[in-house]
Amino acid sequence: MSTKTNILALLEGNRGQSISGEGIAAHLGVSRNAVWKAVNELKKDGYNIEAVTNKGYCLSQDNDILSAQGMLPYLTHKENADQIFVYDTLESTNITAKEMAIAKAKHGTVIIAEHQTSGRGRYNRVFHSPSGHGIYMSLILRPTQLGFSTPTLVTSFAAVCVCEAIEAITNAEPKIKWVNDIFMNGKKICGILTEAVTDFESGSIEWVVVGIGINFSTPLEAFPKDLREIVSSVFPDGRSTATRNQLVAEIVNRMVSPEQKQGEADIMAEYKQRLFMLGKEVLVSQVNETYKATALDVDEIGRLLIQKKSGEVLPLSSGEISIKPIS
Ligand code: BTN
Repeated sequence: MSTKTNILALLEGNRGQSISGEGIAAHLGVSRNAVWKAVNELKKDGYNIEAVTNKGYCLSQDNDILSAQGMLPYLTHKENADQIFVYDTLESTNITAKEMAIAKAKHGTVIIAEHQTSGRGRYNRVFHSPSGHGIYMSLILRPTQLGFSTPTLVTSFAAVCVCEAIEAITNAEPKIKWVNDIFMNGKKICGILTEAVTDFESGSIEWVVVGIGINFSTPLEAFPKDLREIVSSVFPDGRSTATRNQLVAEIVNRMVSPEQKQGEADIMAEYKQRLFMLGKEVLVSQVNETYKATALDVDEIGRLLIQKKSGEVLPLSSGEISIKPIS
């Protein structure tokens, strides 16, 4: 690791506190001039580092620049930081993650971008990814390492983990709209796009890339006009009481190396408990038809069971349909 990276890790681990240049130099075995140079580079990158006479360097509490070093203090398994890669701009973190999965990246590799030029959602829809206030991340997961035999449940698992992670940094109770949109105060704050990477020879799902897009403290004006009524952010007024690094770490803790591996039934139980549509009337749009139905339940492989007006009960898979609650 470079001196700059090491110093960033020290400052992030001691946010709001001063550490002396001499102490940093001795700790890292470098000259004080090297410390001074690295701190200046970090300042150029946008870090708000105060140099206080006789006290040393202090990273301001409110600096929120995405970095593996900034996530480190919040990671339960510190070694997970070695597999976190933060980029300034990517076309789409899912594209980069799929390329890395094919190139045999490890379970738990995380790709994050400050900005995506071609962020994508389900049905290949554009996912708006403005810079500075959002989290655009993709995790490369091996379902067998999570204890899943049904890879399609990774999406439900991800939705539950993101809700729990948001709960850990706020007092809110996020809800899930089937299949994988996360809502707070009736507005969408997160979308999840899961893509499978299959082994060509065996046809089995080797890897799953889970792309998560979170509006963290994004001002409404950053979204196109037609979305402003339906989207919001974890911290809609922009006054965040946690950092994006903290939320990413909370997600990684739950998704990459969960403390207790939950069985598929436990995950589905929590998923259902957070779903806000069950028992409600919904509008189902399929390729050829649109109809009203009642959302009854979710089955063990994540399909939504709906009851048509005729009384017929149908299991719906996520790929084919769009569901809207009818208020
Ligand atoms: C949806 O709402 O339909 C899913 C949106 C998923 C967006 C995330 S952002 C990170 C990753 N990269 C992408 O291009 N998409 C996912």
